[in-house]
Amino acid sequence: MRMTVAAAAVLTLVGAAPATADRPASTGTTHARGDDFLVVGHRGASGYRPEHTLASYELAARMGADYIEPDLVTTKDGVLVARHEPEISETTDVAAHPEFANRKTTKNLDGIQVTGWFTEDFTLAELRTLRAKERIPALRQQNTIYDGRYRVPTFQEVIDLAKRLSRELRREIGVYAETKHPSYFRQQGKALEPKVVETLNRNGLNRRGAEVYVQSFEVSNLQWLDPRLNVPLVQLTSASGRPYDFTLAGDPRTYADLVTADGLRWVSRYADGLGPEKGQVIPRDAAGFLLEPTTLVRDAHRAGLDVHPYTFRVENQFLPADFRSSAVPADYGDLFAEIAAFRATGIDGLFTDNPDVAVAQRDERLAG
Ligand code: G3P
Ligand code: CA
Repeated sequence: MRMTVAAAAVLTLVGAAPATADRPASTGTTHARGDDFLVVGHRGASGYRPEHTLASYELAARMGADYIEPDLVTTKDGVLVARHEPEISETTDVAAHPEFANRKTTKNLDGIQVTGWFTEDFTLAELRTLRAKERIPALRQQNTIYDGRYRVPTFQEVIDLAKRLSRELRREIGVYAETKHPSYFRQQGKALEPKVVETLNRNGLNRRGAEVYVQSFEVSNLQWLDPRLNVPLVQLTSASGRPYDFTLAGDPRTYADLVTADGLRWVSRYADGLGPEKGQVIPRDAAGFLLEPTTLVRDAHRAGLDVHPYTFRVENQFLPADFRSSAVPADYGDLFAEIAAFRATGIDGLFTDNPDVAVAQRDERLAG
């Protein structure tokens, strides 16, 4: 495992995180900032703008997020672009483009038959003619006023934005990039990882102290990246199932196996952090109420891994029953309380669609 890193200048200003009984002194936190708790703008500020658009990322940064989070897929001509999945009919207007009607197809995506339009069948120039739209309009009707206004950004544009906003806001806006469906793309001869390394190299970001993370739900691509990147790697885990590269390799281990104490020690050989589904930190009962926290945070810290769970969202639909404001899924509930409950477990940061709330919660605690 590569040791976690922090910008020396920042460490000089705020000091390294203190060691605790549960946490080796050599680990520290990956990036010391403010209250030392990372707010990651999940797909930007996707609670307020169509996800994975420059507008969404910019709003997240202006709301105080420490990092913006592009999910990465590739175009036909090998350009990394920000989309949550290769199939783009849910988040762009591709279906309304008659010139692309014959690109509609069915593919096997990680063992599931998916019908639609896929980024790897479009050149960047073609993808540029599309416009982004809100993924969940029934829940986020207010975001639909931005439908049709933004393009699909490239990874390079996201980095350029982060650099520009870092200068303007006078604080580093980091990039927390995720490789999406790495085996799927590798099988098509369009591996994402060399492009990620090349892009970070080209931008001077493949270095200790750069405000960059790289995350994945698969394992072998992180292991491939480990000796090639000098930025922290984060193993994502789901509440169920197994990494798809494990499925392909006949490895019987599941995500549940990876989050045992032994599994976390194994993960720490190649990764610096863990991005669990939040229910793996605090599970819910059958009625949706929070139960006692698991030992995951303690076990991860003992293994030297930071913990950044996903995804914190303000709508009742996504909140535990404890913090819902009504039975209406789109109504806002008490995200402050949910974040407070999770912070009490010792997590090191979180992914949120509502970075303004997470930043306000962090500031509230500082003020108190
Ligand atoms: O990367 C953390 C979190 O974003 C993982 O979930 O599906 O939103 O990419 P997803
Ligand atoms: Ca993601």
